[in-house]
Amino acid sequence: MDIEYRINAPVTTDQFIDLLVRSTLGERRPVQDRQCMEGMISNSNLTVTAWEGETLVGIARSVTDFHYAYYLSDLAVCRSRQDRGIGRQLQIITQNQLGPRCKLILIAAPSANSYYEYIGFTNNPRCWVLERATRIRG
Ligand SMILES: CC(C)(COP(=O)(O)OP(=O)(O)OC[C@H]1O[C@@H](n2cnc3c(N)ncnc32)[C@H](O)[C@@H]1OP(=O)(O)O)[C@@H](O)C(=O)NCCC(=O)NCCS
Repeated sequence: MDIEYRINAPVTTDQFIDLLVRSTLGERRPVQDRQCMEGMISNSNLTVTAWEGETLVGIARSVTDFHYAYYLSDLAVCRSRQDRGIGRQLQIITQNQLGPRCKLILIAAPSANSYYEYIGFTNNPRCWVLERATRIRG
């Protein structure tokens, strides 16, 4: 079946959770915390999805100002549909929605490090993270 790509199409919390589980990204996301997952899918402001009929098979979920930076929070393709160019296409469509100065920032899952390098990303040693349980030092 053909893959149809949609920009900012509605995605239910159940569809989102189900896809993350089917892609394996669910192992690294709080899929048991429904409130958090609902907040993630309903508050992102650029979501590109891949569909086979009405089945969600891929997602690129970003938070962005559309001009300077976008954070690609989740990139996931259903395991049975991986390695067919869907992940790359989701990112191409995402990038096409953004201004020419917009820079992509993400945190890779360990298994995806080589993927991002392969499709053209560079590793930035100046990227810093404040872990969830850590408060800003006063
Ligand atoms: C990572 C992921 C989104 C990639 O999506 P995909 O649709 O399978 O990838 P694509 O088919 O677009 O791959 C594009 C190219 O990268 C290559 N590639 C795929 N995975 C790779 C890897 N781990 N390392 C190096 N290259 C990889 C593909 O072979 C393809 O090469 P080609 O164009 O020469 O044929 C998908 O595998 C996935 O959902 N993985 C589990 C969840 C995950 O880790 N997400 C990333 C979280 S940061």
